[in-house]
Amino acid sequence: MKYDVKDVSLASKGVDRIEWAEASMPVLRRIRSQFEKKKPLEGLRIAACLHVTTETANLMRTLKDGGAQVFLCASNPLSTQDDVAAALVKKFGIPTFAIKGEDNRTYYRHINAVLDARPQFTMDDGADLVGTLHKSRKKQMADDVIGGTEETTTGVIRLKAMEAARVLGYPIVAVNDADTKHLFDNRYGTGQSSIDGIIRATNVLLAGSNFVVCGYGWCGRGTAMRAEGMGANVIVTEVDPLRALEAVMDGFRVMPIAQAAPIGDIFITATGDINVIRPEHFVRMKDMAIICNTGHFNVELDIPGLKNLCGKPRRVREFVEQFTIKRNGHRINLLADGRLVNLSAAEGHPACVMDMSFANQAKAAQFVLKNYKKLENKVYAVPEKIDTDIARIKLKTMGLKIDKLTAEQKEYLASWELGT
Ligand code: NAI
Repeated sequence: MKYDVKDVSLASKGVDRIEWAEASMPVLRRIRSQFEKKKPLEGLRIAACLHVTTETANLMRTLKDGGAQVFLCASNPLSTQDDVAAALVKKFGIPTFAIKGEDNRTYYRHINAVLDARPQFTMDDGADLVGTLHKSRKKQMADDVIGGTEETTTGVIRLKAMEAARVLGYPIVAVNDADTKHLFDNRYGTGQSSIDGIIRATNVLLAGSNFVVCGYGWCGRGTAMRAEGMGANVIVTEVDPLRALEAVMDGFRVMPIAQAAPIGDIFITATGDINVIRPEHFVRMKDMAIICNTGHFNVELDIPGLKNLCGKPRRVREFVEQFTIKRNGHRINLLADGRLVNLSAAEGHPACVMDMSFANQAKAAQFVLKNYKKLENKVYAVPEKIDTDIARIKLKTMGLKIDKLTAEQKEYLASWELGT
């Protein structure tokens, strides 16, 4: 079996951590035991490009137990947990190509290594795998692929652009857009784990700090909510008037980034956009400001622009590079090279929310395999039944019950739907 991980001797630590996460993933466990019996993915070759974390390991086990042959690489050079990668290889026999801190060349070499398995299905997070597969040298590979799934907002945007340009080579289900994914994973998962990443990297006190969140989408909302809960004064920056209004009514101060720059102590971007914080903002920041990103790519902070303003940065803590602005001597602390702070400096989302995201992944793969002959080369939503089933099972596993509509209520509501 071919693989490329940092050190296979880390496997036993990885196994313990994978089992720890599994305990908080009851929906995925249930799907796994169904998959074990029915083998719905029998023989399917899956190339997966996901953050190599304990939760992803449990998804890989589920797919394998469902009969698939799985090949895994990282969807970000800094998010790999090396002990998990080792456990996947050694204990679970899953060819894994991922090393924390790998350079860009190695990152793409690893993506190409999983594509060498000639996949029939892709499972992506950010669309780097699908993008590479559609490059001219490999384009004909798309003919063998029956479908795929996409995990994150940025990936879905990229795939929809490919669909619009008529270059998408096979159908892809946008797992991100399922309610049981983004309402929980993007909001509560990113919210908690981004704060966790900032604290682990810096040990900063949030209480009383001015905490600037750029982008009030699902990830931004969650981050703002959790920072507020820890006593920070949250400021939101937005470009969308509706989202800005929502932030105001949620009780946050809203202003342009140019105005927030001299006020903020901690800045986090969560937009999916490029150059949200730029040199003209860095120069106005306080001495010892902290800047980080939790959006998918490391382009939200203009790091080349920051470098131009400063001398050589100093690594002052494991995930902190300190830049000193020549003009005013202010130190700006960049976390995790501007990559996803929650997955680089902390462990990513808690297993409890990834349970639902990855239940969607497993069920979406099963759905595509069953229906691919009827699907076009488009981006599809997760079928509503999968979404509501996952919500129902999740509630059940939490020991919670809800009311059921009575016959009279059903009739009453149906009469409104019919307009009678
Ligand atoms: P979203 O589309 O719900 O929200 C993005 C928000 O940013 C929108 O309200 C938009 O108006 C705003 N925005 C765009 N450009 C801006 C600018 N220049 N300044 C201020 N605001 C701006 O997206 P969502 O789901 O919140 O995802 C955001 C990013 O986070 C994406 O790249 C996504 O892939 C990534 N993500 C990261 C996760 C993690 O683990 N760190 C988990 C899930 C998603």
